Amino acid sequence: MRYIWDGSLVTGNAMIDEQHQNLFTAINDLLKTCEEGKGKDELKKSLDFLTNYTIKHFFEEETLQKKYNYPDHPNHHKYHEAFKETVRELSHKLIMGGATDALTREVQDQIGGWLVSHIQVEDKKVAAHVKAQQGK
Ligand SMILES: [Fe+2]
Repeated sequence: MRYIWDGSLVTGNAMIDEQHQNLFTAINDLLKTCEEGKGKDELKKSLDFLTNYTIKHFFEEETLQKKYNYPDHPNHHKYHEAFKETVRELSHKLIMGGATDALTREVQDQIGGWLVSHIQVEDKKVAAHVKAQQGK
């Protein structure tokens, strides 16, 4: 399974949208690595890229939230931290035991699925707030 970028995921903020597309690429790359049963080195490479890019993206998105006084930033920060913890835990399991079918499904649901709903609900609110503030 692959995550396809479509109109339902557009927040309208160019920086956020571009970074989300790169995250999709990173997630799809990890899923491909899992499904093809690649070894630990390949898994580690995909996981490191996803982890580092997630950290960079969340940092920049939260910097934007703070710059424009996004009122729900404290909660949004918590969602991001919880996701980073999920990525850490799944990375650990994948490196220890390899990519089983069950773990690949967890990557799909908890990483890919999480990102889709986070974008559609939370990040759209952020982008709308930033846009409203910029228009003032
Ligand atoms: Fe976010």
